[in-house]
Amino acid sequence: MRLGLIAPIVSALAAFIAPPSSVFAADPIKIGHLASLTGSEATFGQSTDRGITMAAEERNAAGGINGRPVEIVTVDDQSKNQEVNNCMMKLIQQDKVVAILGEIASSNTIAAIPAAQRNKIPLVTPGSTNPEVTKKGDYVFRVCYTDIVQGGAIAGFAAKRLDAKRAAIITDQASAYSINLSRIFKQEFEKLGGKVVIEVSYKKTDSDYNAQVRQALGAKPDLLVLTGYYTNIGNIVLTARRAGYTGPCIGGDGWDSDALYQIGGKALDNCYFTNHYSPDDPNPRIQDFVKKYQSKYGSVPDAMAVLGYDAALVLFDAVARAGETTGPKIRDALATTKNVQALSGSITIDKERNAQKEIVIVGIKDGKRYLKELWKN
Ligand code: PHE
Repeated sequence: MRLGLIAPIVSALAAFIAPPSSVFAADPIKIGHLASLTGSEATFGQSTDRGITMAAEERNAAGGINGRPVEIVTVDDQSKNQEVNNCMMKLIQQDKVVAILGEIASSNTIAAIPAAQRNKIPLVTPGSTNPEVTKKGDYVFRVCYTDIVQGGAIAGFAAKRLDAKRAAIITDQASAYSINLSRIFKQEFEKLGGKVVIEVSYKKTDSDYNAQVRQALGAKPDLLVLTGYYTNIGNIVLTARRAGYTGPCIGGDGWDSDALYQIGGKALDNCYFTNHYSPDDPNPRIQDFVKKYQSKYGSVPDAMAVLGYDAALVLFDAVARAGETTGPKIRDALATTKNVQALSGSITIDKERNAQKEIVIVGIKDGKRYLKELWKN
């Protein structure tokens, strides 16, 4: 009698303690995550991984996809373009994933596309904004806006809100994202009557920016435009402030990382950047996510965490509608994605495999970010 009671209690406990996949009879659906977990853009991949993990846990708690659990397999490309293809081959050949989420940095997503296309494995990037990314293959999708929209917003904010007239642009010379965002900014800023007085560039492995900053400030700009990623940006802003520049600095989503404030601190006051979401948005869905994320990971989610979560929602939705878990079927389902209610907005995939989304302008004061404005181009 006693023993008979214990067995079901033990198995109920085991189901409760074990990872969610063990309560499913069916095989898991494996989804890859190509991420920069280490290296100069480490927070990009760490954040997307947290967002994706939360989305997968929620999906599995709600029954998985058509009765099968989702299993996320993450590989680290170390923020290195040369590592991307190996990581893709591991996910596709060894782990046999049916689709891949990633990367964040546009150059790394571009490097992942040949393997995705060849093997007919859909690739959904949470945050790569370079317009070329989704033009490079019909298996490539994104859940964010492009730099045509983002570059227009940076130029519009600079001209209309900061009243800037003379911009100096500092570009990461090896980043497809930075190069193109600088180009679009220039084009849009000049349409609004501004002038780009000088353009200089750096390598992301540089550790000293004095030469570039001196050259840029020599052209007497009233705005510094920094289109790269947070590690370099934090150090460039520090260098510019030490050289006596007190004017505004502006850039794009590549600024978004808690590490930016650790590097730049108070030097970042009077800086602005465009982003995909703000944790200060009163939208109850966002506030609920921020709370859950904070209690799980001990920090406020950045845009990559939110976009990782959203990219996973879009992919799960497509896999559920695809009928079969084959690359071509999932691709076709992704192409007809409509009104997925995600954190960064409602997501519909258009003919170019892009999503139309809103832009948030973040300001920095006392070394801390705040929601400056919801921007309309
Ligand atoms: N948009 C950047 C790129 O294309 C990556 C990025 C996305 C950075 C989201 C921060 C937030 O390279």
